[in-house]
Amino acid sequence: MYSWNKKNNEYLIMNFIQPKHIEFFQKILGRRCVLDKEILEKYSHDETEDLSSLPGVVLLPENTEEVSEILSFCNQEKLPVTPSGARTGLSGGAIPIEGGIAVSLERMNKIIEIDTDNFQVTVEPGVITQLLQEAVKEKGLFYPPDPASKGSCFIGGNIAENSGGPKAVKYGVTADYVLNLEMVLPTGEVIWTGANVLKNATGYNLTQLVVGSEGTLGIVTKIVLRLLPHPTLDYLMLVPFHSSVEACKAVASILKAGVIPSGLEFMERDALILAQEFTGDKSIEIKENHQAHLLIEVDGFDNEQLLSECEKIVGVLETFETDEILFADSQSQKDKLWKLRRSVGEAVKSHSIYKEEDTVVPRFYLPELLTKVKELGRSYGFTSVCYGHAGDGNLHINILKGNLSDEKWNHDLKKAIRELFTFVHELGGTISGEHGIGLVQKEFMDIVFPEVTLSLMKQIKIVFDPNNIMNPKKIFL
Ligand code: LAC
Ligand code: ZN
Repeated sequence: MYSWNKKNNEYLIMNFIQPKHIEFFQKILGRRCVLDKEILEKYSHDETEDLSSLPGVVLLPENTEEVSEILSFCNQEKLPVTPSGARTGLSGGAIPIEGGIAVSLERMNKIIEIDTDNFQVTVEPGVITQLLQEAVKEKGLFYPPDPASKGSCFIGGNIAENSGGPKAVKYGVTADYVLNLEMVLPTGEVIWTGANVLKNATGYNLTQLVVGSEGTLGIVTKIVLRLLPHPTLDYLMLVPFHSSVEACKAVASILKAGVIPSGLEFMERDALILAQEFTGDKSIEIKENHQAHLLIEVDGFDNEQLLSECEKIVGVLETFETDEILFADSQSQKDKLWKLRRSVGEAVKSHSIYKEEDTVVPRFYLPELLTKVKELGRSYGFTSVCYGHAGDGNLHINILKGNLSDEKWNHDLKKAIRELFTFVHELGGTISGEHGIGLVQKEFMDIVFPEVTLSLMKQIKIVFDPNNIMNPKKIFL
């Protein structure tokens, strides 16, 4: 029997948790029911700003049956449950804001089957996305979605947030690869949402409803993904522009020329400079007049076709004011360029207190979006570092605190963000392309959805989770 001292008993009760709950969890999980303060701290935050909230207890199930037992018990006892992956999220989805139970899926990290006959893979949610990509690549297969955190994030988290990444412009986002999900409902019942097929016209599409639902409907325990043949060739170029708005304009022109690059990324001058400082890789010379860069990749199987795509791209770039294009001439140079791009987020975070927005607009309007961001910065007194998946019209806007007073940072900035999001919505865009709503964007949901739509979404949540135990206080106010 577990014994309690007064202090941790009080802490647990503050978190809705009573000794009888811990006894139950220990009975089914043994030492995988964790109350250690340091561990609780680890699960109190993801990568979102400096936000954190301690869970009362961390549970580490190893299979679907254990997840099912946990959820049906929590549902009965009305205990808040926050599913936890690798905690790399950027909208606070994995922060246990109500305390309660953090259910970490890290022990469920098996690649169950790579089906080379049907081009599918079945995995558990705790598999690191890059390891999954490498495992299928060994069989000549390709799982394209590759968020910046691919080396540490879990595929389960990617499902929860519908993650994107640089390859989305050609290959789409996580949702485009999910065929079927095993999911534990708050009642503890286990369902499959679809079928392991490439087309499916059989009832409502629960699979796509669950993708991007940020752990608010249940816990995904198995994932069936479709795969592609792995491209054998790619070319990568870094293009310096004299004007960042012009760089944004070039994006739609490249696609209009009939090329779909496998990466079309934008980095403002400061984004690349900060990434260089952060990684220590200063091999790229950034000249005075380099206001922004596009990182452009094409991939495929046929060298001649790829060279002709590169020619088309260069033809388009010649109509803009650019400096000399750098073509990566080795795998190590390609890796270095991608590393720089992938470290921008972390580089900005380590440089200043910041807020990261994840706006997305139809890509032709990207220049207008960037212009608006800078205008707002001038009128509200903030600086910003912008970068992102330009080919998708997805601009990550990092707003830096710099010298802003706490009052301005906490109060006036919300007005600026509201103005920005309203503008984005008017352009036909939305407030998150790939980071999710979670905790930090929920107050802005009214900008993109009227009450009738929000109410439909909330009713769906209630149908799945009538006791509101699953990741409470996320997505909706
Ligand atoms: C990126 C992450 C922050 O694109 O989404 O780097
Ligand atoms: Zn991104």
